Amino acid sequence: MTRIDVHNHFLPGVDDGCKTPLESITCLRAFWHRGYTKFFVTPHTGAMEFGDLAPAEVTAGLERLQKFLVADGIEVQLRPGGELRLSPRILSLPDTSRIPTFGLNTPYVLVDLWEPDWPWWADECIDWLQARGLTVILAHPERMDCLRLNPDFIDDLADRDLLFQGNLGPLGGSEGEDGRGLAERYLLEHRYFMLGSDCHRPDHLPSRLGGLRRAVDLVGQDKVDELTMINPGKLWV
Ligand SMILES: [Fe+2]
Repeated sequence: MTRIDVHNHFLPGVDDGCKTPLESITCLRAFWHRGYTKFFVTPHTGAMEFGDLAPAEVTAGLERLQKFLVADGIEVQLRPGGELRLSPRILSLPDTSRIPTFGLNTPYVLVDLWEPDWPWWADECIDWLQARGLTVILAHPERMDCLRLNPDFIDDLADRDLLFQGNLGPLGGSEGEDGRGLAERYLLEHRYFMLGSDCHRPDHLPSRLGGLRRAVDLVGQDKVDELTMINPGKLWV
């Protein structure tokens, strides 16, 4: 069993994550030294700010990055994925061919929402994805304004059959005390299906790796293994 990172922006030059292969390698090496050997690389998609990456473009970028890793002797495996921004545009897609599921071979999809509230169309987007057989995993609920204002709203979201991916960063202090408090609460309440780094670049490493240690302190190694190895392993097929 190996640790798997389910959320990061290590594909260089495509979003607000790593800018160069060197930055990507620095991040991947740091996680490799902490026991991570598998990575779903999840660039933003569906967000106007970063264009709209097609799954095939992510796969091609990963193949280029993997060559740099081999040259550096870093023995990790990369698989494509994406962080799909929920927007009304999803409702007019002809099919799921541009939906970046984990590994592009599973029914799991990571989504995020940038709006400060929970707009009506977010439910419609989730219904659209679920009606096509996809299991929707909401990224970092602890970072969302609507949950910071009303943490119990996560019960309503769970009723929509969403799964939740927590970020290591807030546990390591990247989001201030409010973010840390909500991440710790959700972790202790066993809300999360998995934990991911959402690491964008090397200066994020201290908070993410600190968050991993904090998670172990809070819920123990077995629970953290469930969230970073066992459940992510269900996506690595
Ligand atoms: Fe992200």
